[in-house]
Amino acid sequence: MAERILALPADKAARYATLRAEIAAVIGGEPNRIARYASAASLLAQAFPERFLWTGFYLVDPDKPGDLVVGPYQGTLGCLRIPFGKGVCGAAAASRRTQVVADVHAFPGHIACDSRSNSEIVAPVFDRDGALAGVLDIDSADFGAFDAIDQAGVEAICAELLTLP
Ligand code: SME
Repeated sequence: MAERILALPADKAARYATLRAEIAAVIGGEPNRIARYASAASLLAQAFPERFLWTGFYLVDPDKPGDLVVGPYQGTLGCLRIPFGKGVCGAAAASRRTQVVADVHAFPGHIACDSRSNSEIVAPVFDRDGALAGVLDIDSADFGAFDAIDQAGVEAICAELLTLP
């Protein structure tokens, strides 16, 4: 399935709204989490190809719940494991809050998986019980690539990933 289901608008907020509807249409009715994460990563990466360098998920490791382990992603090789509290992903997991980082080089403990990355947004993903399941990590080669519209758009998508029937 190479074609998108819906055409994406130029306006960023409208594009996120369309993308959210598209992801919901694709993952709705699919109970497998990996299928949901992989489909969302693909559609997210393709929705903003000019800005999104690396788009994917780090998931709470069921065998070591203080660690995130890499999940489905689009991009160059990502690091496999990130402890809670380390780097941007670890900060999002530990705080359970979205991290928007305009300059990753200024972020304490930032983990440089792709040297081209200059800014990053990481949002938590919760399951239906409110437990942290993982984080969505998006990197950009641009500095300051992510703003409040990105945060709202990404959080709205993350909120539905595991809760949508
Ligand atoms: N930069 C991230 C690590 C993950 S990669 O960018 C794919 C961080 O500091 O959490």
